[in-house]
Amino acid sequence: MALIEIEGVSKTYPPTRRGGEPVHAVDDVTLHVEAGEIVGVVGYSGAGKSTLVRLVNALEPATSGTIRVDGTDVTTLSERQLQGVRRGIGMIFQQFNLFHSRTVYGNVAYPLAVAGVPQAERHARIERLLDFVGLSEKAHQHPEQLSGGQKQRVAIARALATDPAILLADEATSALDPETTADVVALLRRVNAELGVTILVITHEMEVVKSLADRVVVMERGRVVEAGSTFDVFAQPSHPATQRFVRTLVDDVPDARAVAHLRERHDGRLITVSFRDESVSQSRVFAELVRRDVEFELVFGGIEDVQGRAFGHLTLELRGEDAAVEDAVRRIGELVTVTDVPEAEARVAVAGSTGEVA
Ligand SMILES: Nc1ncnc2c1ncn2[C@@H]1O[C@H](COP(=O)(O)OP(=O)(O)O)[C@@H](O)[C@H]1O
Ligand SMILES: [Mg+2]
Repeated sequence: MALIEIEGVSKTYPPTRRGGEPVHAVDDVTLHVEAGEIVGVVGYSGAGKSTLVRLVNALEPATSGTIRVDGTDVTTLSERQLQGVRRGIGMIFQQFNLFHSRTVYGNVAYPLAVAGVPQAERHARIERLLDFVGLSEKAHQHPEQLSGGQKQRVAIARALATDPAILLADEATSALDPETTADVVALLRRVNAELGVTILVITHEMEVVKSLADRVVVMERGRVVEAGSTFDVFAQPSHPATQRFVRTLVDDVPDARAVAHLRERHDGRLITVSFRDESVSQSRVFAELVRRDVEFELVFGGIEDVQGRAFGHLTLELRGEDAAVEDAVRRIGELVTVTDVPEAEARVAVAGSTGEVA
């Protein structure tokens, strides 16, 4: 049994104006999250991500389908029973949602007081949480005295106060700069690894998913359009929405404009080498060129590291004896996929590892 089981769930909102259409915010979504996983839900604004999150902690009822959290069907519970379920689900948001009238300490203390944790026990737990998120020194400050990253760390400590098994993070890093985002992502990884908390990360930032999630689900117009391990989804995105997302992170193969530009500046042989498998490294490819005295220059593209595995495209200009270049391209084509960059106007030949024309 998965910790979160979303089965054929839909959420339809009535028309917001007279004569308007109902909104299918979530449309027949099935998603299982295993205990201990970090699953990313990505999609553009309006895809239905936040609605899905509100259905999981039953802040809103689903229109149809079932949602089980740790075996309990939350779609049939009373409001009273739901309070117990929600205690097992922490949540953090883009705008932090801290209590401004309370100190850092007071923010973390709040859910413990609501849950009726005895005073003596509360103190030790708050100290431990503040230490975990690195804010012991700030305990008696107020949220407005903190940076965005510090505020989100307070929100994380508060969300973890009642020892939830699940953390829902809805655009938790979207208001933060890249460096602070990386800090919060690192903290969330520790929450998962050291505290064993299962995390559902909702984001439109591919960088966050790349460095955090074990698995990715891509949503568009309320539907799941792609799902798989983070590496597979990044290395071989099949849905156009996913392809657009991945392209925000790495340069793809050069498009017509880039080709025209490259052809203007480089008259050697131009090939694009595509890495989709961790077993073949860039240096292995470069070694084949060096061995044959073929000079090369990286002219386009880039390689991304996704959870320790390389993927991406490198476009290289090769210079050397014709036979040596030919031999090197053939050998590299046995290791990875090699595509000849087309002439400036038309797209031409492809020499893949299997020899077929793509
Ligand atoms: N309370 C609501 N009433 C009516 N429509 C809503 C409501 N909440 C969200 N929607 C609509 O549902 C769709 C999905 O919204 P949302 O879940 O917020 O997407 P995301 O978080 O991916 O940006 C959007 O078209 C949005 O306008
Ligand atoms: Mg949202």
